[in-house]
Amino acid sequence: MVSPKYHIFICTSCRTNGTQKGFCHQKDSVKIVEKFMQEIEDRDLTADCMVTNTGCFGICSRGPVAVVYPEGIWYGGLTADAVEEIMDQHIEGGKIAAKYQI
Ligand code: FES
Repeated sequence: MVSPKYHIFICTSCRTNGTQKGFCHQKDSVKIVEKFMQEIEDRDLTADCMVTNTGCFGICSRGPVAVVYPEGIWYGGLTADAVEEIMDQHIEGGKIAAKYQI
């Protein structure tokens, strides 16, 4: 996969010293990463979607935060249910999951 159809960046509060410490990490964003990866696998979309965990996006109070490219849509307040809705509406449906857009 050189150029995936979708690239999902999820803040896990990664720091340059290798630690994960911050608001999104405290809000279980690692589980959000795992949920996206599981949904992608379950839906047989591994050829189309790449998931990358990141450092802070600078809007911690809206976390956990994810950004979906190529559209550059920001989502916040993520939960397992939110991930399923984003997968249904955005990744598979091609429309923004407005309920979680920030
Ligand atoms: S720690 Fe996630 S946006 Fe700041």
